[in-house]
Amino acid sequence: MIPQWNRNPGFNITRASHVVLSARDLGASKAFYADALGLVVTAETKDALYLRGLEEANHHSLVIRRTDGAPKAEWIGMRVEDEAHIELVASFLAKEGLHHEIADVPFQGKTLRFKDVVGTSVEFVADMPVVNRNMQEFHTFRGGSPQRFDHYQLVTHDVQAASDFWCKLGFRLAEYTAPSGSDELWGTWLERKGNTHDIVFTNGRGPRLHHFAFTVPDVATLIHACDATSSLGYDDIIDRGPGRHGLSNALFVYFRDPDGHRIEFFTTHYQFIDVETPPIRWDLSNPRRAQLWGMPASKRWFFEASEFPDTPVSDPLLVAEPLTLERYLEAQS
Ligand SMILES: [Fe+2]
Repeated sequence: MIPQWNRNPGFNITRASHVVLSARDLGASKAFYADALGLVVTAETKDALYLRGLEEANHHSLVIRRTDGAPKAEWIGMRVEDEAHIELVASFLAKEGLHHEIADVPFQGKTLRFKDVVGTSVEFVADMPVVNRNMQEFHTFRGGSPQRFDHYQLVTHDVQAASDFWCKLGFRLAEYTAPSGSDELWGTWLERKGNTHDIVFTNGRGPRLHHFAFTVPDVATLIHACDATSSLGYDDIIDRGPGRHGLSNALFVYFRDPDGHRIEFFTTHYQFIDVETPPIRWDLSNPRRAQLWGMPASKRWFFEASEFPDTPVSDPLLVAEPLTLERYLEAQS
């Protein structure tokens, strides 16, 4: 069922802004994200690394915290308009019966933390320290020259419940995937900032973070990221692509970091602003949905993702398998 868009929730969540991950070796994380992929290091401590895209004036869009345990996805982050809007969201969550708390977080203004209705760990942030935009320091560009954080994708056991909740928060459905002959939701692409998505939910064992994404300037730069990681000795880290999504029209490549977290580089999506524009429906059986050029993604792309700490994972309510590369090749033989 198409989730109902709450166009005026009474507060303004402006965009997906950052993720917080944990990793076993911050030196390896820095070598991968800064030296190979080209993110900017804003700050580093013994226990955390703070990175941002080249055009970003916010302090960080990727935080990696050191762990001695298994690497996890710790938080997905969004920005709200200001501190007053943090309070308004907190009141909304209280009415929904969701536990939430204000947290003291380094390099972040007022921060509201909660778990959404499907167990995703979320933090909403009012502001961050302003830093230099490095977007015209071209001589420093490396890897894929990542410009800015754009979105993340979550795997969830209940896409309908997740989508209904986020649409109550003001998110709008841009595109969705459903099994043949039904509008049961397999995947939803939801936006706040005026392109096709800030947050994506797909059907599967969840909650888990599937990937987060940075924009790159163009196709040549995206390919250069593949070459640069290769010449630095990273092998078996390209998880999928390059290719073009039917959904959202992005030209993409996905990498796995040293701890298995998945990052996407992509050329930007189309605008999705005019309110009369309906969402685009994709049939789950249509391989052009996920790869316009026709070659489906592998099983590991569909089924591997990063868990959140102390959060049980549930099997999906909807039983509907996507077409994987393995099944596709089997059918060809
Ligand atoms: Fe993506």
